[in-house]
Amino acid sequence: MTKFPKGFLWGGATAANQLEGAYNEGGKGLSVPDALPGGTERFDITNQPDFNWEIDTKKYTYPNHDGIDYYHRFREDIALFAEMGFKAYRFSIAWSRIFPQGDELTPNEEGLAFYDKVIDECLKYNIEPVITISHYELPLNLVTTYGGWKNKKLIEFYARFSETVLNRYHAKVKYWMTFNEINSALHFPVMSQGLVASNGANDMQNVYQAWHNQFVAGAMAVKIGHELDPDLQIGCMILYATTYSYNSDPINQMATLEQNQEFNHFCGDVQVRGEYPTYTNRLMQKYGFKFSDLETTPEELALLKANPVDYIGFSYYMSATVDETHVAQDSAQGNLIGGVKNPYLKASDWGWQIDPTGLRIALNELYQRYQKPLFIVENGFGAKDEADEDKFVNDDYRIDYLRSHIEAMADAINDGVNLMGYTPWGCIDLVSASTGQMSKRYGFIYVDLNDEGQGTLNRFKKKSFSWYKEVIKTNGRKL
Ligand code: BG6
Repeated sequence: MTKFPKGFLWGGATAANQLEGAYNEGGKGLSVPDALPGGTERFDITNQPDFNWEIDTKKYTYPNHDGIDYYHRFREDIALFAEMGFKAYRFSIAWSRIFPQGDELTPNEEGLAFYDKVIDECLKYNIEPVITISHYELPLNLVTTYGGWKNKKLIEFYARFSETVLNRYHAKVKYWMTFNEINSALHFPVMSQGLVASNGANDMQNVYQAWHNQFVAGAMAVKIGHELDPDLQIGCMILYATTYSYNSDPINQMATLEQNQEFNHFCGDVQVRGEYPTYTNRLMQKYGFKFSDLETTPEELALLKANPVDYIGFSYYMSATVDETHVAQDSAQGNLIGGVKNPYLKASDWGWQIDPTGLRIALNELYQRYQKPLFIVENGFGAKDEADEDKFVNDDYRIDYLRSHIEAMADAINDGVNLMGYTPWGCIDLVSASTGQMSKRYGFIYVDLNDEGQGTLNRFKKKSFSWYKEVIKTNGRKL
């Protein structure tokens, strides 16, 4: 079997808003996920035309408020990551801990000091911190006062935020990412762009304008980071769903090409190559506008060109299947993408279709396209774990999922792909982004907390904990 390279970054990934809790401690301001109700209907609620971001605790629960209380327990949690042998830990910085309203001129020192402690705790165990600057957690004020990322003012606010954190931590943190799953806005702009139906999410020109503003802001972060230290590695982060045609009908093949361009490749093409791809206008035409309708300047386009990312971070959970001709019977569910059911694949409890070969294809496609290092910064299996009376979870299904995806990674490395690392999602159980549930668990570590917010919050090692420890110890030889 192919060997994983020496220094391969085995680890795990989380995001501030989904585990920290302490939503109003340490000077933190409110963020978008603080105003998202828990439950499978969270996106339907935010897409009501009269949704106004008011937090109504009588009507809804808000699981992101308390998360899994990592803010107070991060030392215990990082010690468990170290026990598994993590070489890297991907986490995000809650923007609203550093700039509580998003538009202040000076940062909140208490927020910065919190991440000093988190980073130092990682370094104590020789774990490389991998930081996502913005992971689905815009300060709420940037949405309610400025209308989210469609407003160009956010470029300045993000530049100040990224400059603050890069300045503060660059001597200790080498690996960074600008925006989590930037392309997810195509289907769910609330999380990354702060756009809902009531402030323009249904007009795709707003989504594309917001993307442009994010591309410019991200390029500024790359520039700032490289000026501080040219060795910093600053990546983009894309939600990648390998996309198949349902059959050989050329209509479906063409629709697959278009979906690949718009969902899987558009954002990466701009962030990696530093320029808009040749198919840009065709994507926009279907929504009734063109590139020249966006607010862009020659200086911004030059900034993009001069500051491409160093590597491609991406999440991979499942593949998608396109059937433009409507011959397939069943639709599929998934990680912010739809499509139809692929008859050759099994699915998780939430309908996400399991496809390790799709990961090998993704790795080959991305590497051939960009020829820059790849980093799988999310992958994993959301499941309803049943803990026994000792709170032990026998999660063989998770081990099977991860094993098959690691095998696919090894195959892709054998295909010639340059893969830097692997940080499976939700290495400790945390609040789900799409459903706000605790019961959708990904972790190697079980957290005693249910969807109603009840539980001791104690941490317990699942069966996959010792399995993954062995995988890391043997650098992927023992699966
Ligand atoms: C990715 C996100 O889409 O998938 C994470 O970057 C998210 O924030 C993860 O948690 C899994 O999705 P979910 O909806 O099951 O939490």
